[in-house]
Amino acid sequence: MAKELKTIGVLTSGGDAPGMNAAIRGVVRTAIARGLKVKGIKKGYQGLLNEEIIDMETKHVSDIIQRGGTILGTARSMEFKTAEGQEKGAEICRKHGIDGVVVIGGDGSYRGAQKLSQLGINTIGIPGTIDLDISCTEYTIGFDTAVNTAMQAIDKVKDTSSSHERCSIIEVMGRNAGYIALWCGIANGAEDILLPERYDYNEQNIINNIISNRKRGKTHHIIINAEGIGHSTSMARRIEAATGIETRATILGYMQRGGCPTARDRYYASIMGSYAVDILLQGKTNRVVGYQHGEFVDFDIEEALQMNKGIDEYEFEVSKVLAI
Ligand code: ADP
Ligand code: F6P
Repeated sequence: MAKELKTIGVLTSGGDAPGMNAAIRGVVRTAIARGLKVKGIKKGYQGLLNEEIIDMETKHVSDIIQRGGTILGTARSMEFKTAEGQEKGAEICRKHGIDGVVVIGGDGSYRGAQKLSQLGINTIGIPGTIDLDISCTEYTIGFDTAVNTAMQAIDKVKDTSSSHERCSIIEVMGRNAGYIALWCGIANGAEDILLPERYDYNEQNIINNIISNRKRGKTHHIIINAEGIGHSTSMARRIEAATGIETRATILGYMQRGGCPTARDRYYASIMGSYAVDILLQGKTNRVVGYQHGEFVDFDIEEALQMNKGIDEYEFEVSKVLAI
């Protein structure tokens, strides 16, 4: 029989993402509405090990849905990767009466949740990352805001690039995944889109493309380069030397992780927060929430971590066609 839940914890882990606050709010308010107590665990698994645990009431999540970052703070904890750290974490949960934990983060954070579940603490993961690189879900909290932030910045770079008739390489985040680059590439009408999943490292193709576009009268040439490829500054130097066209690199960086979440991020994060609490109440553990084919769903963490997701072939093909 499923154990009866009385108190749950919520933490954010790994890189922060806009919309995490909406997810925290969804967890806290749903849990309280269902008669549970809620503890906020600060600074991810490291905060759990340091017992940075606070009682959370509905008022603690007032006026946060529109704020970027995470009110609980986040961290990467090496100590929690050790068996001793995990046992200590589970023991601290028991000491504070926490029988279930909602973990908002990425793949690494789910590994931690899996360990806690094996040690008797029920856990549910919620996908929180701007990178969209979680295989079991078509949506991750923060991606929509990050893409919109990057898109607006790239529009601005494009204005100055066109005025000066320059080539611009704009590097966007995404760790090893090219989703932000692909979306910006299409949304900003870039001339070249370099994705770690597809790039052949043949710079001559890019150089030829720039020269032929310039001959056709294009005043700018925007290259969206994914962080997983990187080296935008040295690439700009080589391209300028080969084409004779002034070339600048802009690395957008952490601005993509901050700021006010979009409606989509607030909406999905809110539903996922509620959903996580409701499946905890059904006695589920070691699950991760996802969004697939228009529905909120959940998967076993191990199964979710074994899934693969790549760049859609048709969408990539369209990005090439439209770049001409
Ligand atoms: P993300 O969750 O965004 O993928 P990380 O990979 O940095 O970010 O993971 C966040 C945290 O999750 C780590 O700092 C660590 O505390 C915990 N974690 C990651 N991998 C494991 C693991 N194999 N076992 C236990 N905890 C882990
Ligand atoms: O996972 C989100 C992300 O911003 C990635 O796009 C990037 O590679 C990484 O985090 C940067 O991490 P850190 O905050 O540790 O520099």
